[in-house]
Amino acid sequence: MRLRGISKSFDGTTVFSGLDLDLRAGEVLVLLGENGAGKSTIKNILSGIVAPDAGTIEFDGQAEASWSQSRAAELGVAAIHQELSLFPNLSVAENVLIRELSRSSVGPVSRRRLVREAAALFRDLLGVDLDVTRPVESLSLGQRQVVEIVKAVRMASSVLILDEPTTSLSMHDREQLFRVIGRLRAEGFAIVHVTHFLDEVAAVGDRVAIMRDGAIVAQAAAGELSAAQIEQHMIGREVAAVARERANDRPAEGPVALEVAGLDDGERVRDVSFSVRRGEILGLAGLTGAGRTEVLHAIVGLRPALGDVAVAGVPYRARRLAESKRRGLVLVSEDRRLEQAFLQRPIAENVTAPWLSRVFRRGGWLDRRRERAFAGALVDEFDVRYDSLDSPIASLSGGNQQKVILARWISSDPEVVLLDEPTKGIDVGARAQIQERVFRLAARGAAIVVVSSDLPELMSLSDRILVMQRGRVTAAFAREEFDPAAILRAASGAGESGAAA
Ligand SMILES: Nc1ncnc2c1ncn2[C@@H]1O[C@H](COP(=O)(O)OP(=O)(O)OP(=O)(O)O)[C@@H](O)[C@H]1O
Ligand SMILES: [Mg+2]
Repeated sequence: MRLRGISKSFDGTTVFSGLDLDLRAGEVLVLLGENGAGKSTIKNILSGIVAPDAGTIEFDGQAEASWSQSRAAELGVAAIHQELSLFPNLSVAENVLIRELSRSSVGPVSRRRLVREAAALFRDLLGVDLDVTRPVESLSLGQRQVVEIVKAVRMASSVLILDEPTTSLSMHDREQLFRVIGRLRAEGFAIVHVTHFLDEVAAVGDRVAIMRDGAIVAQAAAGELSAAQIEQHMIGREVAAVARERANDRPAEGPVALEVAGLDDGERVRDVSFSVRRGEILGLAGLTGAGRTEVLHAIVGLRPALGDVAVAGVPYRARRLAESKRRGLVLVSEDRRLEQAFLQRPIAENVTAPWLSRVFRRGGWLDRRRERAFAGALVDEFDVRYDSLDSPIASLSGGNQQKVILARWISSDPEVVLLDEPTKGIDVGARAQIQERVFRLAARGAAIVVVSSDLPELMSLSDRILVMQRGRVTAAFAREEFDPAAILRAASGAGESGAAA
């Protein structure tokens, strides 16, 4: 495909003008750029979801007069979207085989055959065994990402665009995905892979294109640019090295802030016990579906579970999300849709939501001026790219939405913070900043539990790492013992393959 002179603005704000980009058959193009640079917008234009204001789109050497979603589908151009596009109440099989299964003529026999076919797709493509009759809403975010991948790969026959497909994937699933990408490339697909993980350039890329401020500022063969050079192009300056060594200004042996004993929901969380001290950062490692997110959800009452939780020594029995906040226990969820009620609300309100009762009420009235000043300062501190504090958060790019949600919670000074994939979708420049904020939060005495599929990040953040497998904690590592290979081994479990009994 060839994009020539493409321009696009939203509400008078130009994302890019006069952009040229070529996708070649049998080539993987890695598309990089800061949050808000315009990567997802390119994906939306290529897949016909968003119409450009100007410019031409060519497919196979022919100018396409009226490019649209149906035309893209007809030619086998498919995309994996950053915000997943599955129907939560339909089963996995229905989502993947939506065209076939929605036909009313499908009888029960062929329906069973289609379900078998769907299951086979997961095994053949990604080597994943998944009960495809389960509704998508019962799956973890990582599993949903796997479903999204299988669905798109099935619909694609010429061009596949992957918009940050690896943000919720474990190392193992990531490698499986890369194998699939390699196979499709060999079959002659043109592939666009959008990512913030620079190591993925070498892992899957043939060519890189780097975007900044709405333009493609560099293109090169994958091996030509070092990670440092790529960062330079992306950000226009050198990225501050991540604060790997934490300041030693936190209580070495603080009192226990969060104690979890025998947490168990009979399914995804099995007899999980640990404690976290004030000022300590505890990492949870594990493969997709190991139960890390579920543990966090059980602690704040989003998921019913037996067992004991105590915050600062006070038992917390009737766990509910709203009550958790009152007790200083905060969950920063990996699933932005959990924050759905807020997505159409202005940025300012999104940042100040947890503070309203404390800070901005004066005689029962909301002090809008103070609220806005406060929100403005916070989003600037987190380097959120936005037009107006009145824009809905849904109009921000994926990474910038994530920054708003982090700004909201990290700054509300909680006792215990549960962070689920905190830097998901966040570019390298802002990532270092967010890690710095997490360190500062711990230095102020908060106890932190962090889940991250990015193992190097998890190791740089954590004082201690627990490894989970199938709902259980199977290993623990102190900081001196951190070793990626050992952690991965503990996560995948020796003898796991085939020994499901
Ligand atoms: N539907 C929309 N309405 C208004 N503005 C939009 C819309 N879609 C995108 N934008 C704006 O276009 C710009 C580019 O966004 P885009 O989502 O393409 O960035 P991105 O490179 O994918 O970023 P990220 O790495 O955070 O996903 C952003 O400033 C965003 O706010
Ligand atoms: Mg994006």
